Amino acid sequence: MKAAANPVRAMFGRIAGVYDFLNHFLSLGIDRYWRRELVGLVLWDQKRPVLDLASGTLDVALAIGDRFPDAEIAAIDFCPEMLAKGVPKLKKKAGRVFPCAGDALAIPAKNDSCSSLTMAFGIRNIPDRARAFKEMFRVLSPGGRACILEFSSGRERIWGGIYNFYLEKILPRAGRMVSRDDTAYSYLADTIRAFPPAGTLAREMEDAGFEKASWRKLTSGAVCLHWADKPRA
Ligand SMILES: C[S@@+](CC[C@H](N)C(=O)[O-])C[C@H]1O[C@@H](n2cnc3c(N)ncnc32)[C@H](O)[C@@H]1O
Repeated sequence: MKAAANPVRAMFGRIAGVYDFLNHFLSLGIDRYWRRELVGLVLWDQKRPVLDLASGTLDVALAIGDRFPDAEIAAIDFCPEMLAKGVPKLKKKAGRVFPCAGDALAIPAKNDSCSSLTMAFGIRNIPDRARAFKEMFRVLSPGGRACILEFSSGRERIWGGIYNFYLEKILPRAGRMVSRDDTAYSYLADTIRAFPPAGTLAREMEDAGFEKASWRKLTSGAVCLHWADKPRA
């Protein structure tokens, strides 16, 4: 896999070293709670693995392992540097997390092979969401669930605009100072602003074949949990 071929992959490769610190710092630690809520939606059928897509530094995969100690978890990300930063965390926890380089647009898993899948803060980075949702649908077993955590659309005003000010003005500057990357944290603000509202995402999931697409906002709507099920055959 050539690290520089995709600009998003290259960007995550550059910030992998500071990603965890900035995540917890810029969200004041609330990101841990968001990931726990995401994992609370996962259905594990005792037979098939759970997939964590855009797994990054493996925090969601580890949280799935905490909830289901006997589950096998495939942690897939197209940025090997991000996965590599997560690997030392695996030593601290007994688990069955298997990091694997792979693209959410061509998931390296067989049809109907997974009981649930998660994706935290990944879908916003994927311009071709329709293809990503079709891939998720393909690899889930009938009755399986796709669980997605993402920032809400930045077009919505939160806390009377204070959150939007933070997103536009403070977050890119703080991110640039710590990461020393000129673009990564303005990219974050730009993609949040461009991200569609929850109802649009739910419709896109149902267009890919999912049913019961639902969502729940957390932290006054700063982030949103989305979930949808693959119909039973
Ligand atoms: C903001 S990070 C989120 C990481 C992790 N899920 C978390 O909660 O911290 C986004 C991740 O998505 C990955 N990513 C973006 N597009 C991808 C794609 N098409 N296939 C696989 N991974 C992708 C990036 O490499 C990066 O690790």
